[in-house]
Amino acid sequence: MLAPVNDIVSPGVYANPELLHARYARYRREEPVAWIDQEPYRPFWAVTRHADIMEVERQHQIFINEPRVTLVPREVEDQTTAALGKRTAMVRSLLDMDEPDHRKYRAVAQSWFMGPGVARFQSRVDTVCSNWIDRMQEQGGQCDFAADIANFVPLSVIMTILGLPESDMQFVLRSTQQLFGASDPDMQDDSGDYGRTVFMQLMGYLGELVERRRREPTDDLASVIANGVIDGAPMAMLETLSYLLVTSTAGHETTASALAGGLLAMLQNPDQLQLLRDRPELWNEGAADEVVRWVTPIRHMMRTATQDYVLRGKQIKAGDSLAMLYLSANRDEEAFVDPFRFDVQRTNSRHLAFGFGVHFCLGRLLALNEIKSFFKQLLQRVEHIELAGEAVQAQSNFVGTLKSLPVCYRFKS
Ligand code: HEM
Repeated sequence: MLAPVNDIVSPGVYANPELLHARYARYRREEPVAWIDQEPYRPFWAVTRHADIMEVERQHQIFINEPRVTLVPREVEDQTTAALGKRTAMVRSLLDMDEPDHRKYRAVAQSWFMGPGVARFQSRVDTVCSNWIDRMQEQGGQCDFAADIANFVPLSVIMTILGLPESDMQFVLRSTQQLFGASDPDMQDDSGDYGRTVFMQLMGYLGELVERRRREPTDDLASVIANGVIDGAPMAMLETLSYLLVTSTAGHETTASALAGGLLAMLQNPDQLQLLRDRPELWNEGAADEVVRWVTPIRHMMRTATQDYVLRGKQIKAGDSLAMLYLSANRDEEAFVDPFRFDVQRTNSRHLAFGFGVHFCLGRLLALNEIKSFFKQLLQRVEHIELAGEAVQAQSNFVGTLKSLPVCYRFKS
């Protein structure tokens, strides 16, 4: 095992991208499948290479999601086990499920996400993006793009697809930030209970939404989920709430992270920004995917082995957990030409930012549409834009996002 100096676990390391990438690179080179035993987490295998993550995700019968989907401090897992009798979280979303349940539950919203639902909402996504660009303009030439704009665009979209009022946006924003940025000191709630209070409030809020949509269904995604049927019976409340929770959270901070990280990448690579100005059609080719590869908002997901397995020469034992480090895989020299180059002309990139296999991100189309729509419109309307201060990365080893991205700009007259 490499010395702890090669820490790729502590949330603090994630606030320093250069350091993090140097460490990932060392693992890819020297120990691509490495046993990590570092507090506050239970030990696990870190998988840093693209091909190895694909191998794990492809074999979803051997490497399953239950009971450990993300890195959670041992103390929190113990509290959950004491309360619920098992180590899994208090939710049962698609991410916590394995076959055969996973396939059945995924089918409830899959067709909405994979085409007609998302297509029907495209013009509303365009309007949301345009409204937030208006607000940027109203701020008079400078803003904190991460905190003032990127945070709100995906959330406005989710509020729209779930049919929730704009007036509830601050509540949903604060709750999801506290739940998913829970390791960053600036994003923690002050109850000291690892987000349990926030979680209960959000579940109560979503419960009311389910009741309303069961009484009076509409054409939105909340109605599809609230009235989901599994094996001929209505979906149970825990699974219904978890479905809504994962939709409202998975789609929010991830896409916000891609927008803020994408703008930063463009500002740090002016030649690429110019290319996108000259050839906006690149957004419909591979540019949005390149933004997502570059940023890789979700830094890891976990799987647990159901049987002994040899991965890149390492003996994985039944019951061992593995963390698939997507950000490392998306800079893997064996999988990408020039992986450390932000290249908006990169096409057919098989990046892993949306995962792979049966749990492949359900919201991929929606997320890519938001990114395309926002940046196409922004670059059309803005004459000049540049960094106006230091970009600050959140301390989180799960969803990596920028806490702050000060920019100044001039709109076309
Ligand atoms: C850039 C934005 C996004 C990124 C980077 C992202 C990334 C991911 C990743 C890595 C997974 C796990 C895949 C795996 O385990 O193999 C996932 C699953 C999921 N995502 Fe996304 N996501 C994004 C946006 C969205 C949006 C906009 C939504 C919906 C509104 C969404 C809904 C989901 C759902 C429901 C799952 C669970 C799928 C399953 O377990 O079957 N995501 N996403």
